[in-house]
Amino acid sequence: MIREVIVTTVSDDGTPHVAPFGLIAAAPDEWVIAPFHPSTTLDNLRVVPFLVANYTDDVRIFAGCLTGRRDWPCVPSTVVPPPRLAVALAHAEMAVVSVQEDAQRPRFRCRIVHRETHRGFEGMNRAKAAVVEGAILVSRLGMLPREKVENEIAYLEIAIGKTADEAEREAWSWLMDAVRAHYAGG
Ligand SMILES: Cc1cc2nc3c(=O)[nH]c(=O)nc-3n(C[C@H](O)[C@H](O)[C@H](O)COP(=O)(O)O)c2cc1C
Repeated sequence: MIREVIVTTVSDDGTPHVAPFGLIAAAPDEWVIAPFHPSTTLDNLRVVPFLVANYTDDVRIFAGCLTGRRDWPCVPSTVVPPPRLAVALAHAEMAVVSVQEDAQRPRFRCRIVHRETHRGFEGMNRAKAAVVEGAILVSRLGMLPREKVENEIAYLEIAIGKTADEAEREAWSWLMDAVRAHYAGG
């Protein structure tokens, strides 16, 4: 089982880094993060072996990180060095407990050392789910056939058209700009 979250880490000089990741369930209160090389998150976990899993339904952050918009407001966490997202509905602070090395995709097993809830979850929304799927497509543009990408976008756009609010429309527009730029001239 995988949960799509926004991960915050810090470098050795304390600079925060925000990136979407799928955390893989490993055991009660234990999750695996598996970043592909090269990755700032991966570099940060080597020097400061802590992360925050931010649970948010603000899908602009998923789409934004994939399209060069990484400056999302953070506030200090309670027990670990990386900060948490200011808008998180809830967050879990985690410590790396072991690393399974791999040349392409090392796996960091993490244990929750602290968790907090900040505001209520207000229900599922198809457009938010579509933006998360669209962000994953954009992260794989170089690997997927163009026809598959365009077919999936056409399907996801139905949910955007029927159920999006302003935030989801903005997130979707960032993703579509990235798709157009990728195929420009192609
Ligand atoms: C929902 C979602 C899940 C993702 N999960 C992963 C993942 O498990 N591993 C990975 O390497 N990249 C994943 N990505 C792509 C990373 O967010 C992206 O490559 C990011 O820039 C990581 O690199 P960085 O640490 O240098 O920021 C995911 C992207 C999205 C939108």
